[in-house]
Amino acid sequence: MKILIVGGGGREHALAWRIANNPSGTRHKIYCAPGNAGMTGVAEPVAIQATDVEGLCAFAKRERIEYTIVGMDAPLALGLADRFASEGLDVFGPKKAAAMLESSKAYAKRFMKKYGIPTAEYAIFDTYEAASEYIRKSPMPIVVKADGLAFGKGALVCKTQEEAEAALRGIMIDKQFGESGNRVVIEKFLTGKETSIMTFCDGEHIVPMVSAKDYKNAFDGDIGPNTGGMGAVSPSPYYTENDAMRFEHEIMLPTLKGIKAEGLDYVGFLYFGLMLTDKGPYVIEYNARFGDPEAQAVLPRLKTDLLEICKACNHKSIDKVDIRWDNKESACICLVSEGYPLKYETGFTIEGLDRLQKEHNDALVFFAGVRAGDNGFETDGGRVIGITCLDGEGLAARKAYEAASVLSFAGMRYRTDIGPV
Ligand code: AMP
Ligand code: GLY
Repeated sequence: MKILIVGGGGREHALAWRIANNPSGTRHKIYCAPGNAGMTGVAEPVAIQATDVEGLCAFAKRERIEYTIVGMDAPLALGLADRFASEGLDVFGPKKAAAMLESSKAYAKRFMKKYGIPTAEYAIFDTYEAASEYIRKSPMPIVVKADGLAFGKGALVCKTQEEAEAALRGIMIDKQFGESGNRVVIEKFLTGKETSIMTFCDGEHIVPMVSAKDYKNAFDGDIGPNTGGMGAVSPSPYYTENDAMRFEHEIMLPTLKGIKAEGLDYVGFLYFGLMLTDKGPYVIEYNARFGDPEAQAVLPRLKTDLLEICKACNHKSIDKVDIRWDNKESACICLVSEGYPLKYETGFTIEGLDRLQKEHNDALVFFAGVRAGDNGFETDGGRVIGITCLDGEGLAARKAYEAASVLSFAGMRYRTDIGPV
C-alpha cells in the first residue's frame, strides 16, 4: 500500500516504523511529509510542510496515496481530514470540527463541562482586562492557558499573582503564541501525577491503548520549563487498575457520548492527558493525535498491525479488532539540543550512530530534529533523537540510557531520571 504520514518528528518516525514493521511482513511504500533525514530506512521524506494542506492533497492525488495518517495537530486544525475526504482520499485523523477538542481549549473545557467529565474548574476570557481582574481575585497557584495551539507550550502554571499577570500579558498582549492567545482559559491548579492515555476512536467506539507517562519538564526532578516531552515510559508507573476503571467509566465513555451527541464523527487517535488526583482521574487536556514522545514508547509495544487498526476505525469497526500489546515495559529517552525548549543552535554532527547499531542493536532510534550534513546526520531541532528500549524485568530505561551514552553531539543533553519510580 502507498501510505503518507504527515509530520516530521520522532512520533512520525515511530508511526512509519510501526507500519513498516508489521506482523504479517507486508511491504508498504511509506512517505512522510516533511519527515526528516533520519527516517529514510522506513519512509521517504517529502519536501512539503505539514501545514500545506493543498500541497499535501495534490501530492496524495499525484502519487495515488491510498492512506494518510496525520501525526501532528496543526494540519488537523487546518482541516486536512476534511480536504482529503472531499477528494475521496482515505485519511486517519479527525475532521476540523472534531479536532477542536485539541485546537481550542475553551471548546474542550465547555465540552467536558457539558458531558460531566472531571476537569479543573475554569473561566474563559476574551479580553485582557477581564482576565486580569479575575487573576487578582483568584487564589494561587493557577494555570493560564492560550486557547489555541501553541506547540505544547501554551499552558503556564503560576504560583503568584505576578507570575499569572506576566503569563497573561505574554499570551494576550505580547501575543507570544500569536492568534492562539486571543482568548485564554484560566483554571484551578490540580495536584497529582500525570498520565497519558491514548485511544483509538472510530466515532462509535473507543479503545484505550496501554498507558504512558511523559516527562514534560526540561530538567531532572520535574524542574524547568515545559517541553514537548523529554522522554516517556509505558506503562505509566502511577496508573492503577482502579484508575483505569474510573478513567473508562468517568472520562472515556462520557467523552465518546459527547462526541456522538455533538455529531463530531471522530476518527483518529484521541489522547487524554490525565491528572491522577486524590478524587480520581481528571482531564487536563485532549489531543487529537498521538503524543510525542509517548508514541515512541507505546507503539513499540503494539503487536497488532497498526494499519489494520486505523483502517478498522474508518469502517467504524474498531470494536471487532483484537488489539494486543507486548507485556514488556518500554522507555524512551529524548536527546535534545542545549537550550531547548528555549533558544538553541543546530548544525552539530551526531556521533556514534554506527556504534549504537553494533553494540545496542535492540535499541530503537527515532529521529526528530535531524538533517543530512557533510559528515553524516546533524542536529536540526530541539528534540533530536529518541531512543527506546523494551524490557520484561524493569530495565527498559537503563538499557535506553546505556544506548544513549554512545551518542554525542555538541550541547547534547537529556534527563537522567526517566524510568521507574
Ligand atoms: P496543557 O497544554 O493543557 O496540556 O498543559 C500543559 C501542562 O501544564 C500539563 O501537562 C500540566 O503539567 C500542566 N497543567 C495544565 N493544566 C493544569 C492544571 N489544571 N493543574 C496542574 N497542572 C496543569
Ligand atoms: N507529549 C505530550 C504531547 O504530545 O502533547
